[in-house]
Amino acid sequence: MTSGRSFYITTPIYYPSDVPHIGHGYTSVAVDTLARWHRQAGDDTWMLTGTDEHGQKMLRAAAANGVTPQEWVDKLVSESWFPLLETLDVANDDFIRTTQERHERNVQVFFQRLYDRGYIYAGEYEALYCVGCEEFKPESEIVDGAGPFEGLKVCAIHSKPLELLHEKNYFFKLSEFQDRLLELYRAEPDFVRPESARNEVVSFVSQGLKDLSISRSTFDWGITVPWDESHVIYVWVDALLNYATAVGYGADEDLFARRWPGYHVVGKDILRFHAVIWPAMLMAAGLDVPKGVFAHGWLLVGGEKMSKSKLTGIAPTEITDVFGSDAYRYYFLSAISFGQDGSFSWEDLSARYQSELANGFGNLASRAIAMIGKYFDGVVPAPGPYSEGDLAIQRAVATAVVAADEAIERFRIDEAIKAVWTIVDELNGYITENEPWVLAKDDALRERLATVLYTCVEGLRALAVLLSPVMPVATARLWRALGVEEGLGALTAQPLREAGVWGGVPAGTTTTALDPLFPRVVQPE
Ligand code: ME8
Ligand code: MG
Repeated sequence: MTSGRSFYITTPIYYPSDVPHIGHGYTSVAVDTLARWHRQAGDDTWMLTGTDEHGQKMLRAAAANGVTPQEWVDKLVSESWFPLLETLDVANDDFIRTTQERHERNVQVFFQRLYDRGYIYAGEYEALYCVGCEEFKPESEIVDGAGPFEGLKVCAIHSKPLELLHEKNYFFKLSEFQDRLLELYRAEPDFVRPESARNEVVSFVSQGLKDLSISRSTFDWGITVPWDESHVIYVWVDALLNYATAVGYGADEDLFARRWPGYHVVGKDILRFHAVIWPAMLMAAGLDVPKGVFAHGWLLVGGEKMSKSKLTGIAPTEITDVFGSDAYRYYFLSAISFGQDGSFSWEDLSARYQSELANGFGNLASRAIAMIGKYFDGVVPAPGPYSEGDLAIQRAVATAVVAADEAIERFRIDEAIKAVWTIVDELNGYITENEPWVLAKDDALRERLATVLYTCVEGLRALAVLLSPVMPVATARLWRALGVEEGLGALTAQPLREAGVWGGVPAGTTTTALDPLFPRVVQPE
């Protein structure tokens, strides 16, 4: 299934020094769901994630723990960041670490290219730096400190003191790209999404751009500037390039041509790096800009942006240990409009788990399969003539497939799930209306009973296919219970955009009992 159009999609590469929390997990499951959808639809899909391992923040954390930075990141990546992907059932195709040789070598290739093309010069610099952001802060993000930091200038995001740095740096001529960037945003309105993010970026760039300091000489935990050993490349320039080095930039031009350009999904905290600096770097190097940058909102806990440093951090395992990975994925992806901020609460999660997953989808699947067991010895019956009500279900399924795929095109995972959920609601209503348990009492209505239950099974087939990118575990169980693997093949091989074609399940298929897809949960104290 690699004949379709290219769909390359990335998460940010995370700083391994933070313990993974539900915010990182949110981005990763969103990207994974988009990738799974496109992969299953037959697009030539590649999903990349990884870790951002250089810079002062990492160096200091390692020193504080008495180990070398490499030892420090190796430990964190293997103990925390690889396991996160398993916890959340993320099926990434690659994982890049910026300390890998394949990355470091080709970052130097790229950096040299910018230099050779005249976009890098040496200069003096003095400015306030935030190690938390790994960024020289613009005036708008410098505020007066409070409490222990009274009298100091602090970062508006981290509330920690800024450091005044004065050094010789290399600079990137970002200021030269204002017009070309504005033209890009104008010509390709979808380059930055959602609309609110696009507006922010356009207004930021319209105010003019300053050249960007892109090297540091006071520490050495980074990639060396190829022509000047006393400097390392600024960690954000190094980090952004992961998207290119991971797909062959500088090493495998055929692979690079096949994958690049791709889409970047990021939190809105790092929108400017992706929507301003990164395309300018690519333009300077004479490479294609990304197909698009999608900035999602923040997870708020108790009304504040959740973060480890503010002690509102929640580990994904706290949720998956109780509710499972499917519920995690479903909850964050359906309850929050993708692109907007969203509040997390245990109450909301529990309530939706119970009403939407356990009572809505899970119960539908259990009931329908149990009735096939009870009334047809587990064997899917052939349908008789369809009534208007049956045909309405068929139309609802076909409509949902188109609407969901169209929403995924716009990166609106929440709307896609909503579209698919119309099938859950329609089918639950359909069962209530048709009362199969009443039909079962009358032998003369045997064919009608068969048609009703066949309609349910077909609806469940479509639901399994459409929801497998969102909830890979539960849908795989449903697929097994439906017994269709032999007749139709593996769930993840079902062409997604054809899920609405009616009649896929062969009559005579043997189903097996289904334990609750979303069992009652016991919440720890
Ligand atoms: O910024 N809500 O890494 P990082 C939603 N290494 N998403 C959140 C979140 C929250 N409260 N908190 C974090 C970096 N995220 C750089 C990126 S890319 C070339 C380099 C998610 O570890 C969100 O995706 O700070 C955000 O953009 C990302 O984690 C920041 O991860
Ligand atoms: Mg951060």
